[in-house]
Amino acid sequence: MCGIVGYVGKKTAQDILINGLKRLEYRGYDSAGIATLDEDANPHCARSVGKIAELEKVLAAKPHEGKIGIGHTRWATHGGVTVNNAHPHRAGDVFLVHNGIIENYKELKAKLSDHEFKSDTDTEVLAALIDSYYKGKATLADAVAKALSEVRGTYGIIAFSPREPEQLVVARFGSPLIVGLGKDETIIASDASALLGYTRNAIYLNDGELAICTRDDIDLRNLKLESIKAKPEEIQGDAEQIQKGGYDHFLLKEIMEQPTTLHNTLSGRINVKQGTMRLGGFNLTPKELREIEHVVIVGCGTAYYAGLLASYYIEQIVPDVTTEVVIASEYRYRSFHLPKHSVALIVSQSGETADTLACLREIKQRGAKVFGIVNVVGSTIAREVDGGSYVYAGPEISVASTKAFTSQVATMLIFAGMLSEAHGGNRETIAKLATELDALPDEIAKTLETCAPIMKELAGKYCKYDDALYLGRDTAFPIALEGALKLKEISYIHAEGYATGELKHGPIALVDSTYFEVFNILKGRLFEKSIGGLQEVRARGGKAIVLTDAPESLDIEADDIVRIDTKFELLTPILLNTLQQLFAYYVAVARGNDVDQPRNLAKSVTVE
Ligand code: G6P
Repeated sequence: MCGIVGYVGKKTAQDILINGLKRLEYRGYDSAGIATLDEDANPHCARSVGKIAELEKVLAAKPHEGKIGIGHTRWATHGGVTVNNAHPHRAGDVFLVHNGIIENYKELKAKLSDHEFKSDTDTEVLAALIDSYYKGKATLADAVAKALSEVRGTYGIIAFSPREPEQLVVARFGSPLIVGLGKDETIIASDASALLGYTRNAIYLNDGELAICTRDDIDLRNLKLESIKAKPEEIQGDAEQIQKGGYDHFLLKEIMEQPTTLHNTLSGRINVKQGTMRLGGFNLTPKELREIEHVVIVGCGTAYYAGLLASYYIEQIVPDVTTEVVIASEYRYRSFHLPKHSVALIVSQSGETADTLACLREIKQRGAKVFGIVNVVGSTIAREVDGGSYVYAGPEISVASTKAFTSQVATMLIFAGMLSEAHGGNRETIAKLATELDALPDEIAKTLETCAPIMKELAGKYCKYDDALYLGRDTAFPIALEGALKLKEISYIHAEGYATGELKHGPIALVDSTYFEVFNILKGRLFEKSIGGLQEVRARGGKAIVLTDAPESLDIEADDIVRIDTKFELLTPILLNTLQQLFAYYVAVARGNDVDQPRNLAKSVTVE
């Protein structure tokens, strides 16, 4: 979603702003802009619709020389994708970039009749509100603080004014902002990846904080403008992690690097010899673990499907614990009841998803402990949970989530193992889980290597279809949902995931020769029943691709069969999912799509 960068220092602001905005491109956006102040404090603003390359064309014709400025990539919420709606917005002497949503902007707009509005955005209303208080002796910080006290909603903002040409005023409520402290320069961004390579020393703003940033000083305040002590922290990661590393797309890189990223997830957490596993960050005593009776898992999109898959395993291996997996945007407004001895797992790659964060707060308020399964270190969810674990998948740049899914599932499986141990679960099953988890990076590597060419060929065969159904039973069901999501996100083919057993309850009505079906079929107790679903589809002219761990000796009739060779008994669905990831990738490439930044989607959904 929208990205923010700010700079004040000795270098040309334009270069740093553009570079920072490019680092944030992956979040998804539809227009971009920057505003700077030159040496004589004259403001300059450039905005354009489309990619940053378009903005660069505008700037090439008229470069900005100043050493202070703000930049923004916008993902449209209020008003269409137009230059006038792009940020920065100006009202009087106030220039503003904003992430988030000002919910009461109509009310506020009605009171600002002096300002002639040029856009449909809530942000311009906030700029005008700040300007209305930027009179007489008021400083920009005074005006910002006063305006924000009237605002309902969420924001991460940077404002500047030619009247105080050496400072940027930054504030946050619900939308992340990080202030990087460099040598003779201060760089602000909504995402740490824009700061990598400039500085590792940063202040993560908390909600309700405002900072007055100059080249060599950060003055941190609350919204009453009382001073707060800033605690600088170290930014994790390095600039290399956010390069494509020789791959054509980030998505392919992220699929292919799963053996390594998963290894990082598991490192130090599994003891195969003893058949045990631990997640340090959960800080629960064996007694507290024993007392857990109910686990609610919260997430959106791929994180939700990771939770759904984990819930099947938790049920399988932990006696007497009930699991419930919920979609965050629904759960936050439901009249939910948490039984005694409940804990929540808050699953989020970005750690910033607005609905997931809202659930965290609701659940916490009701007295249950909340634990994070989060990828981005230092993100808001990671900071607000009672404990939990980072999944250590490294920066995930492509909008469609792949490696984070695998690492989220693995982390929750370790939690399942810990829980099972505390609840007197079957030792052999826990040991088997430990062994398979330990072997998972190598099994994924083998699967990717042997099957990438096969999936590429299949993608060529099916890329012209407009509709697909993904099917699976048991642990292959969440995988079917995730497979369909991946395909629709990046190929724009209409794809639905269903439980195979549900075919007869609706989706089979759609099946004809214009649809193709992807069946995830596991050998084992539900094999025959899954084959039954496959036959029903084929009898109606549907084209079927089967992804399976069943050996050749188990006869399967389908248009295409991809068999993986594994001794796994528990974790095969994760391997099947890597096939689906490859398939979606190659289909999207074959259709000529923007694989890493699919239309209309955002990586980090920081608004409701
Ligand atoms: C967006 C992304 C998905 C992601 C979902 C949840 O929809 O495009 O890839 O799964 O948000 O994001 P989170 O950061 O909370 O895991």
